[in-house]
Amino acid sequence: MSQATLTCPALAERYVAAFPRSRKLHERASTIFPNGVTHDARHLSPFPVYVDRARGAHKWTVEGRELIDYWSGHGAILLGHSHPAIVEAVQRQMEKATHPGACHEREIEWGQWVQRLLPSAERIRFTGSGTEATMMALRLARIFTGRPRVLKFAGHFHGWNDFLYPGADAPYDAAVPGISAAVAQQTVIVPPNDLQVVEEKLQRDPDIGCVILEPTGGHWSQVPIRGPFLQGLRDITTRHNRLLIFDEVITGFRVSPGGAQGHYGIKPDLTTLAKILAGGLPGGCVAGRADILAYLEFRPGKEKMRHPGTFNANPLSAAAGIATLQIVAEGQVCSRANAVAGQLRQRLNALFAERGAAWAAYGEFSCFKLLPGYQGPRPNGDDFIPYGGDLDKLSGMLTSRLTHAFRQGMLLNGVDLMGMGGMTTAAHTEADIEQTVAAVAGTLDLLGEEGLA
Ligand SMILES: Cc1ncc(COP(=O)(O)O)c(C=O)c1O
Repeated sequence: MSQATLTCPALAERYVAAFPRSRKLHERASTIFPNGVTHDARHLSPFPVYVDRARGAHKWTVEGRELIDYWSGHGAILLGHSHPAIVEAVQRQMEKATHPGACHEREIEWGQWVQRLLPSAERIRFTGSGTEATMMALRLARIFTGRPRVLKFAGHFHGWNDFLYPGADAPYDAAVPGISAAVAQQTVIVPPNDLQVVEEKLQRDPDIGCVILEPTGGHWSQVPIRGPFLQGLRDITTRHNRLLIFDEVITGFRVSPGGAQGHYGIKPDLTTLAKILAGGLPGGCVAGRADILAYLEFRPGKEKMRHPGTFNANPLSAAAGIATLQIVAEGQVCSRANAVAGQLRQRLNALFAERGAAWAAYGEFSCFKLLPGYQGPRPNGDDFIPYGGDLDKLSGMLTSRLTHAFRQGMLLNGVDLMGMGGMTTAAHTEADIEQTVAAVAGTLDLLGEEGLA
């Protein structure tokens, strides 16, 4: 859908008037960056807001407008923006060395925190990002199993690497521009939450070496996945002698101090981590079985996976990561972020019910999703999964005129959503929740004026 057809004229006019400096910056940015943005998800018509600073759960645009933030650093922030412990740790490290081009003590401490929090992390290798981590996990799986293919789930996002991007977004069986058919053929995509299909694929296709998934559901629980499915996958992959990879780039240290695997008590063979791992700075890692990560070692007569990477275990990221994981280990921050998101989902559903609006809020842990045009029984608690988890009904709304207008309306009402949802941090408060619910009510009014609600 073109951006022109997405625009609601009256709302767009208010938006343009409210964010004049952002507009100017975007004009400059458009002469440098495609669409003027540096991440697809930050694209918003006619321009996105530009943010000057952030603290706790809030951020301030270049116009000085305060926003409650639900991007939470694309999920990388759990303690709140510029948490004093992280600021201090990074500043201290900054003065010592930003990149010594050598092994350093901080990387050991950082790795030990991961080992303490994740029992499956027998060995760890740091990478520059989550995408690099999933790329490494696949390559290790290929070397270890001698099987070239990967099984993944429709709607699950694992970064933008060639083997895992197919099937991330609807339509799930479509070719992805720039990814060759030969590469795409190495990826087997199946619907989520169907153990029988997984078992059949593994039985029939000896070339599948590993199964990868976002353990609470693709795109942070768009179609939620629960413990029994994860246990089923663990059993099936063990029975068929294939590797199970949990992509905990989002869920790691967010769902619980031990990630989704800690919460559900399930041990994958490999785990990919990033985001909270590095305390809001860049960084990722693969963690898992020592016999698999052994293929990163120099061993006479043994195959080795080569792995360079200028920013692997960068000391600034290590400093931020250590400061974060130390606090995560105490346990309260994950529970706090989960509780506040639960409260938000509940309050929003109460608002929708009160107004008779065809909307629903759902999600898990510290994530929430908003579903416009929802037709079905009213949510009755956190077990609620709209449309029984039907993938087609729960995805694909992101480019509609309604959702575009909704995001603009929310920004005008002081809330920055990550698409049609967001993630909470331990810094979000009850007052933020109240203000967010009021912002949703105000935005529904604006949509009404546009004939969209
Ligand atoms: C589940 C998951 N895996 C992998 C990635 C890729 O991580 P990065 O953006 O650090 O490359 C993301 C990014 O959002 C993600 O959500």
